[in-house]
Amino acid sequence: SAAVGRQWSLLNTNSRFHYAAVTEFSERLAALAPEGLDTVFLVNSGSEANDLAIRLAWAHSGARNMISLLEAYHGWTVASDAVSTSIADNPQALTTRPDWVHPVVSPNTYRGPFRGEDSTVGYVDAVSRKLADLDEKGGKLAGFISEPVYGNAGGIPLPSGYLEAVYAMVRERSGVCIADEVQVGYGRLGHHFWGFEQQGVVPDIITVAKGMGNGHPLGAVITRREIADALEKEGYFFSSAGGSPVSSVVGLTVLDILHDDALQENARAVGTHLKSRLEALGDRFPLVGAVHGMGLYLGVEFARDRETLEPATEETAAICDRLLDLGIVMQPTGDHLNVLKIKPPLCLARESADFFADMLGRVLEEGW
Ligand SMILES: Cc1ncc(COP(=O)(O)O)c(C=O)c1O
Repeated sequence: SAAVGRQWSLLNTNSRFHYAAVTEFSERLAALAPEGLDTVFLVNSGSEANDLAIRLAWAHSGARNMISLLEAYHGWTVASDAVSTSIADNPQALTTRPDWVHPVVSPNTYRGPFRGEDSTVGYVDAVSRKLADLDEKGGKLAGFISEPVYGNAGGIPLPSGYLEAVYAMVRERSGVCIADEVQVGYGRLGHHFWGFEQQGVVPDIITVAKGMGNGHPLGAVITRREIADALEKEGYFFSSAGGSPVSSVVGLTVLDILHDDALQENARAVGTHLKSRLEALGDRFPLVGAVHGMGLYLGVEFARDRETLEPATEETAAICDRLLDLGIVMQPTGDHLNVLKIKPPLCLARESADFFADMLGRVLEEGW
């Protein structure tokens, strides 16, 4: 807060003019991205970042059709909402997507139509069929958007090799691959700074927000120069307060603290400990169907039956109510409202992780 206070008292204006902090922050972000992703747009939120990413895909490809995953949330603005398909966030989502959005089956290896290790081919085929259908109708592809580790589905890793195969099919059609790192990126996974590293791919556009501002409105789009240039032909981009001097100082300070306090390492260590505690609850309580995720992006999925995977929706609501009595704020998430998404601050202490696991254990013991 001292760094931010200093910048506030010195100057805060819009970001149409370049100040040292704006340039420095953009350079730091570009340095964190893979080689070639060297151009940064600063905005105020994840919705804004995804909206801009979609416009970049449109501008670069000259096309409009986007592939997105079912079970997804990408934001509230017109374009980011259009590619959002989660029925938990919007019960009308599946019947109201615009005609340029082509959702494909959620590659959910836990409860989707294809499960476990060998499920990749089934999910890749589904995308292949959707693309073939689009080709047949003469629809040109603008791009593909997904979370590279499936946060909205409960922190489930995509099947191995999925993005490699899908990105290749999208690029064959000159489409642009967008990785929405708003939830899972920026060190939260512990083992990886970016979610796409887990899949061994490099996207054409990265979107990031949420934790990068630590509560302050801040988002970014990181891409290749030629993709950014395509948008510039359609007009000058600016987002007045996106990446203002104060926002840039916030972003720089968050990056400094991430580094100095080794928060990614903390997410790895405390997350691994917490996951093992939660898995131990799974050994004791059949209601715990699965513990998804890694680092400090974990998902506890409740199911009434480990064979049928019938979602324990009412039980999850009751568990959240009881956790609140015990001092833990949790809400049911996922398309079946049967997942506890656990994504605490990256500075979470081991004792706090233990407190959470102890309290969840207590609630499960009480009757679920
Ligand atoms: C994966 C993902 N993308 C984008 C967004 C939208 O970000 P914001 O709420 O900052 O607009 C969210 C918000 O929850 C999200 O989870």
